[in-house]
Amino acid sequence: MIRLSKNQSLERLNTFGIDVNAKFLGEITYPEDLEDPNIYKHLIDKQFLTIGGGSNILFTKDFEGVVLHNKIMGKEIIADNSSHTEVRFGAGENWHETVLWCLKNNFGGMENLSLIPGSMGAAPIQNIGAYGQELQNIFVELEAFHVEEKRFIKIHKSEMNFGYRSSIFKGSLKNKAIITTVTLKLSKLNHHIKSSYASLANYLKERGINHPSIQDISSAVIAVRQSKLPNPKELGNAGSFFKNPVISVKQFEILLKSFSVIPHYILPDESIKIPAAWLIERTGWKNFRKNNFGTYPKQPLVLVNYGNSSGLEIKNLSLAIIESVKKKFNIELQAEVNIL
Ligand code: EPU
Repeated sequence: MIRLSKNQSLERLNTFGIDVNAKFLGEITYPEDLEDPNIYKHLIDKQFLTIGGGSNILFTKDFEGVVLHNKIMGKEIIADNSSHTEVRFGAGENWHETVLWCLKNNFGGMENLSLIPGSMGAAPIQNIGAYGQELQNIFVELEAFHVEEKRFIKIHKSEMNFGYRSSIFKGSLKNKAIITTVTLKLSKLNHHIKSSYASLANYLKERGINHPSIQDISSAVIAVRQSKLPNPKELGNAGSFFKNPVISVKQFEILLKSFSVIPHYILPDESIKIPAAWLIERTGWKNFRKNNFGTYPKQPLVLVNYGNSSGLEIKNLSLAIIESVKKKFNIELQAEVNIL
């Protein structure tokens, strides 16, 4: 059963640390809780929000409905052979703690995703990715409660429509289903070591680590992240606020006429990804701070709350950045963070 409390602050439930209230707040402990008629009536009225680690959300106002904190726990090995294991995780598990648990058991696949704030259930929604690895590469399937159909569904990887920071949960299933478990396939031997991401490769080279283990990769990722990204426990933020924009070769060539050097990555379909951090820096927003909000000095892609700034102030900063980048580069940045 879910107990709902009235008019609760969400400050501790979002990594931006924005102090807004939820009309009702409750915790999901078991998937079956979602079928409880008292809860279901809010779900079917579409007045609900499920929150995991709260690390990809910017609240700009109070939430006039039910906020459900997903606390469904559990780690269960559901298939196992000499080379791989499949683990079904409760959606409420903390992401980084599951990474550490996998490392302890020598299960490979999550090491590059060390220290990403957030929960297991949120990971597939935006297909989390960092340092050369993406969730989709280890994803098997998930279980979710489909609100309109009032039943639990399984969604296999082939149905997830995974893309860069995107999945079916950002499209046709948006606000329609609540993820309860996530199953990942992890290696037990011959781990697929991914060490070519530039900052990772440099870190390992400097330390003379030529054949890194999954533990080495995790330590390197943790060190690189800590050197570039703010710890949300110390400074309110939600990681990258924007996605890295993807443009056509034609547009890239036009830009090259005005800007001789543009950092970029060529994607398999030949379109071109530009680091949003570079665009933000070049429009003068690096090291920006006003009152208690700004861009993080070491990584301007991250917007930060230095104190008790409001969600609206941060949203307005994001809009001003989008406008500057559009004006200077004719590129439309898109928020990665959900703005509510
Ligand atoms: N850059 C600048 N100025 C800066 C910082 C970076 O110009 O101050 C440029 C440089 O050209 C640099 C490039 O941006 O080479 C890329 O920077 P970085 O390696 O830090 O990665 P990113 O593209 O900015 C992405 C993810 C991060 C992820 C890192 C590492 C997105 C939106 N962000 O950032 O994800 O940790 O790669 O893989 O794809 C997140 O999603 O919350 C997140 C932190």
